[in-house]
Amino acid sequence: MRLIIAKDYADVSRKAANIIAAQIQMKPDCVLGLATGSSPVGTYKELIAKYESGDLDFSQVKTVNLDEYVGLPKDHEQSYAYFMRKNLFDHVNINQKNCNIPNGMNLNADEECARYDAVINGFGGADLQLLGLGPNGHIGFNEPADAFIKGTNKVELTASTIDANQRFFAKREDVPTHAYTMGIGSIMKAKRVLLVCSGENKAQAVKDCFFGPINPRSPGSILLFHPDFTLVADEAALSLVKDQL
Ligand code: F6R
Repeated sequence: MRLIIAKDYADVSRKAANIIAAQIQMKPDCVLGLATGSSPVGTYKELIAKYESGDLDFSQVKTVNLDEYVGLPKDHEQSYAYFMRKNLFDHVNINQKNCNIPNGMNLNADEECARYDAVINGFGGADLQLLGLGPNGHIGFNEPADAFIKGTNKVELTASTIDANQRFFAKREDVPTHAYTMGIGSIMKAKRVLLVCSGENKAQAVKDCFFGPINPRSPGSILLFHPDFTLVADEAALSLVKDQL
């Protein structure tokens, strides 16, 4: 693991955006694995600013997103398809035909998971996969479990994840209970993995995943096995491992 210590969320975002920008510059037709949630929003803002200043060209970039809620159409304001358009795709010159997200409206889970695995495998995995970390250590929606799941799968979200995501919905009952997520095997297939993490509410997960044993109960811990894994975390997220830095 390569650890980049940032001061705060803004600093995490700048540092992560610089790494992604370098990836796009080195390989303009690269495949980016992308995440939603609050962690990457600042990174996306920085990337948009680089595009606007003429420093980045997304015209050949292809993307595969980590996950999508089951049952939300892509125009639903809380769908991850909508999130990606609002926070990145609509603001840069990416061809949205090259942007892949699981289809939450395909209720045939076997079919949708196989389709999405074929998309990822068709690319040979992402060149760079951007991740956030759940407060329970999840990556994508791969929740703590008895084993690491390889391919795209339909998951029942844990109470902790529903609690964490409730802030985006009018009431808890509105939060979808299931999601399609890229599997851990597909995340590990990426040539480079970049995880952005900020805030004290992530400190326990950072400690469990990256400063403890590799264990499917802390799904992010598998990244310690990845040959090119970079963690960009701020001081608050690292507050429980200060003595190990
Ligand atoms: C998002 C995703 C999730 C989030 C995680 C952290 O596509 O797959 O694993 O990265 O839940 O969420 P935030 O960033 O909102 O704290």
